Amino acid sequence: MGKDLERVLITEEELQAKIKELAGRIDEDYAGGELLIVGVLKGAVMVMADLARALHLPVQMDWMAVSSYGAGTKTSGVVRVLKDLDTDIAGRHVLVVEDIIDSGLTLSWLVHNLKSRNPASVEICAALRKPDAVKVALDVKYIGFDIPNEFVIGYGLDYAERYRNLPFIGTLAPHVYGAS
Ligand code: IMP
Ligand code: MG
Repeated sequence: MGKDLERVLITEEELQAKIKELAGRIDEDYAGGELLIVGVLKGAVMVMADLARALHLPVQMDWMAVSSYGAGTKTSGVVRVLKDLDTDIAGRHVLVVEDIIDSGLTLSWLVHNLKSRNPASVEICAALRKPDAVKVALDVKYIGFDIPNEFVIGYGLDYAERYRNLPFIGTLAPHVYGAS
């Protein structure tokens, strides 16, 4: 692993502290209610697992899988549903949990799609956000860290399906994905 990782951008401790802080805000905002957290597979698995355990609210968990990136590092802009929700979200408070917002195309499509199912509300929680995300009108209520425009791995994020299990966020050495 050593030579593929350029540097650690966010440590495990920083991630865990931030997730607890976000969970505290979410507990307050939805106090007295029930929440359906929807993880976007596969990248959101770590955030979902940590966030769900940090929340004190009654929470249900569901998952969607959509295609965004292939094996490369650029988004296609084309979103395909690979796995839909098991739950009917009509009348429910929904919180979409994501690993990272890059172009924002995936989430803006997803939020539009979920809102058409008449939920009580739809909000977004993302661990990371890159600068390009500002180009899309996307209302992100809970954000962990704004990061520079670099390709990152770990804490659910992959490069060609590898490195998802790293407990921290690191940057990938450019030689791994063929940049100069
Ligand atoms: P967007 O539609 O451009 O916002 O793409 C979001 C999705 O692209 C995320 O859910 C990730 O799966 C993937 N992605 C974006 N940036 C990175 C990165 O730096 N590392 C790994 N995956 C990324
Ligand atoms: Mg993802």
